[in-house]
Amino acid sequence: MFKRVVRSWLDKDEQGQSSELSPDNIPQHIAVIMDGNGRWAKNFGMPRVIGHQNGMKAVKRATIAADELGVKYLTMYAFSTENWKRPKDEVEFLMKLPAEFVATELDELVERNVQVRLMGDKSILPAYTLEPLEKAIRDTKHNTGLVLTFALNYGSRIEITEGVKKMVQAVQEGSISVDEITPDTFGEVLQSSGLPDPDLLIRTSGELRLSNFMLWQLAYSELWFTPIYWPEFSKEHMIEAVAEYQRRIRRYGGL
Ligand code: FPP
Repeated sequence: MFKRVVRSWLDKDEQGQSSELSPDNIPQHIAVIMDGNGRWAKNFGMPRVIGHQNGMKAVKRATIAADELGVKYLTMYAFSTENWKRPKDEVEFLMKLPAEFVATELDELVERNVQVRLMGDKSILPAYTLEPLEKAIRDTKHNTGLVLTFALNYGSRIEITEGVKKMVQAVQEGSISVDEITPDTFGEVLQSSGLPDPDLLIRTSGELRLSNFMLWQLAYSELWFTPIYWPEFSKEHMIEAVAEYQRRIRRYGGL
């Protein structure tokens, strides 16, 4: 069934030729930097927060598209450790979106067997942000479909620094030896523990940078940048990104 769906999705490549997605080479994990909400809103003469509101709808579209393609993990950069520097009203609006997402969009995702997870420092998130998300995490814990992770108050440098501290502590306590610190064991102390490394990173809005997102985990990921703004993101863009991914040859430093 799934293979038929994927085969039936045709995509136009850069030369305008049709190309089919291969069901055998779907990225297992897609990570997304959802950028351009503010600029999208500005283009329509609307306040920035309307961009975020529409960005939330794009989260749902992207999740459904990824699920239909057979992607197993989707990780969305929803709020960075640096985003607190934004005006108070905008931060507050962003912090209220998870509750709205859970209230209005989650049912359908639950029906799709989606499992919700959270990555980032939860300690300073307001209760009105954290509680609905934690409920969604509890309610979907046993779901076996797509794993949808929100990176909220997430920053890669902090994540890595905290990981180093955990490792040092474990060595001091004698629970591991220095020689047992490897990329694999270090990966287990990161907030992404339990997620495979992303195969594909998508960033919208034309910016060509990683902005402190999953720096360790993206070491060998394929990067796909698109000029469209996040609120415009649709199933067709997901297919375009995966089609491009399938044209790449991943060598992991080999030949
Ligand atoms: C960057 O665009 C986007 C963000 C900082 C927020 C992303 C959040 C969402 C898309 C909604 C998340 C939804 C849930 C359910 C958590 P920007 O506003 O910085 O864009 P700009 O560069 O054009 O100003």
